[in-house]
Amino acid sequence: MNRIKSKIRVGILGCGAIGSRIARSIKSECDEQAWVTGLFDINPAKSERLAKFLPYSKNIIRNSYQELLAVSDLIVEAVNAPDTHVLVRQALLSNKDILIMSVGKFIDGESILRLAQKRGVRLLIPSGAIAGIDAIKAAALGKITQITLTTRKPIYGFADNAYVQAKRINLSHIKKETILFDGKVREAVKCFPQNINVAATIALASGAKDRLRIRISTSPEFKVNSHEIEVIGEFGRLLTKTENVVCPDNPKTSYLAVLSAIQTLKQFFQGVKLGT
Ligand SMILES: NC(=O)c1ccc[n+]([C@@H]2O[C@H](COP(=O)([O-])OP(=O)(O)OC[C@H]3O[C@@H](n4cnc5c(N)ncnc54)[C@H](O)[C@@H]3O)[C@@H](O)[C@H]2O)c1
Repeated sequence: MNRIKSKIRVGILGCGAIGSRIARSIKSECDEQAWVTGLFDINPAKSERLAKFLPYSKNIIRNSYQELLAVSDLIVEAVNAPDTHVLVRQALLSNKDILIMSVGKFIDGESILRLAQKRGVRLLIPSGAIAGIDAIKAAALGKITQITLTTRKPIYGFADNAYVQAKRINLSHIKKETILFDGKVREAVKCFPQNINVAATIALASGAKDRLRIRISTSPEFKVNSHEIEVIGEFGRLLTKTENVVCPDNPKTSYLAVLSAIQTLKQFFQGVKLGT
């Protein structure tokens, strides 16, 4: 049997910071089980740049999403597109497995989960830059009474934030930890769109979107972005915290979010899933 043919064919949709990292890691981490058979980005310079870093001898740049779907068993979605829903639906309707990075676009994504189940395809959503999704999923089988995400960021992380500007919060006057926002998840993702992926992942895992409270704070003492999750329910109480460094090639993204995506793929390819 030709071993190459039995490998899972991966198509990279979006060759920016995250798509590029994942594509390169498939070679270094998952070479036995998978290979990248296609790259597609609406900006061709991005896919051309990424192709130079990949070791495949054939040209794997695809000229359209349809072409990418045709050569892939699994799509890695890493786009920042307004129509991400449409792209993900297209993959599911083409019976392709898919890893979704733009989970924030699916905060009300139950219909996408149902579609994946109906089509019998695998939909992968990594934990990202937070800890505890394994336990939250288990806890969600019982009653969750309280669930809070507290995100702490350095002051410079809010310099361009429209909500902070509209509220006339003077960041230079802040001397100790100050809560900038405390409210429901729906309002939080509108005011702090950078937080949307983390909030949506917790919302989907817990099934408790309406109870999810988001607190966002800053302080001159905060040097890195951190996410603290507290859940109380029938199972007891959970408290987790991550303090994240940024990804070396993208200061907008936590390094742990990228590592989490690569580990999710690795487990999927190897068929061994550790944790809930
Ligand atoms: N789940 C998580 O933990 C997590 C963490 C960080 C970022 N993200 C999300 O991952 C996504 C990618 O992030 P990034 O930092 O790599 O962004 P990026 O801007 O570096 O790259 C996105 C790429 O998508 C391309 N693109 C846009 N629309 C497209 C389309 N319709 N078809 C093909 N390509 C298209 C762009 O040209 C760009 O190259 C974003 O939605 C981001 O919010 C998720």
